[in-house]
Amino acid sequence: MQRTPRVSIFPNPRDVARTLARRVAAALRDNPRVVLGLPTGRTPLLFYEELVRLHADEDVDFSQATTFNLDEFVGIPAGHPGSYRTFMGRFLFQHVNIDPARTNFLDGAAADLNEECERYEDSIAAAGGIDLQILGIGTNGHIGFNEPGQELDARTHKVTLRPETRRSNAALFGGDPDSVPTHALSMGMGTILHARKAVLLATGDTKARCVERVVRGPITTTLPASLLQLHPDAELMLDNAAAQELDGVS
Ligand code: F6R
Repeated sequence: MQRTPRVSIFPNPRDVARTLARRVAAALRDNPRVVLGLPTGRTPLLFYEELVRLHADEDVDFSQATTFNLDEFVGIPAGHPGSYRTFMGRFLFQHVNIDPARTNFLDGAAADLNEECERYEDSIAAAGGIDLQILGIGTNGHIGFNEPGQELDARTHKVTLRPETRRSNAALFGGDPDSVPTHALSMGMGTILHARKAVLLATGDTKARCVERVVRGPITTTLPASLLQLHPDAELMLDNAAAQELDGVS
């Protein structure tokens, strides 16, 4: 049996981004109606840059694709400069021919957050599920905003953000960790694991420790990304720096 997650190692973050962008372009050509799950954060920026380039240079067509973002902060309106919706517009959606009606976000300003989470799960199901879920990883092992804990929620839910997660998002809020919302909505681990394929991107040496534990186990709720070992088609795409604690794994 092939080990899961598979591990692919590239010389640098640009090569990781280029390879994944090419794969997404191929997936769009094969199935223009592909459903993508998308992360925010620093790691996917080069990947989004490559997708924008492929759209401009090679006419990669996003017009029928559907996207679902993994998470969103609670308590800020969609148009807030720190929202993940704003992030996606700035780095990808404003630069490709995606239909805004097919881009899906959690609304962190919804009056009823439980209802909002249910709506999101229903929308994913109505779209036929996620074909390719792309993920980043927090230095504490979170994916989406599923923070380490005794239990993990299966479905889209409200989360309390850990101090380290608020710190790493401070740049979106004028550099002040205290201005980062204390809560977020996130797809759950079940939502993520139900995607037909999952690709986790990790670059840089700050991710190396975590990556080693994700690959070698054990599977534990204290390292949410370790649950990817249960996914039949999961892959880690790493640069050399993030892979430095792995030897002989490929
Ligand atoms: C954000 C998300 C998070 C990030 C993680 C890594 O949508 O899903 O899990 O992927 O916090 O963030 P960076 O890439 O900034 O290190």
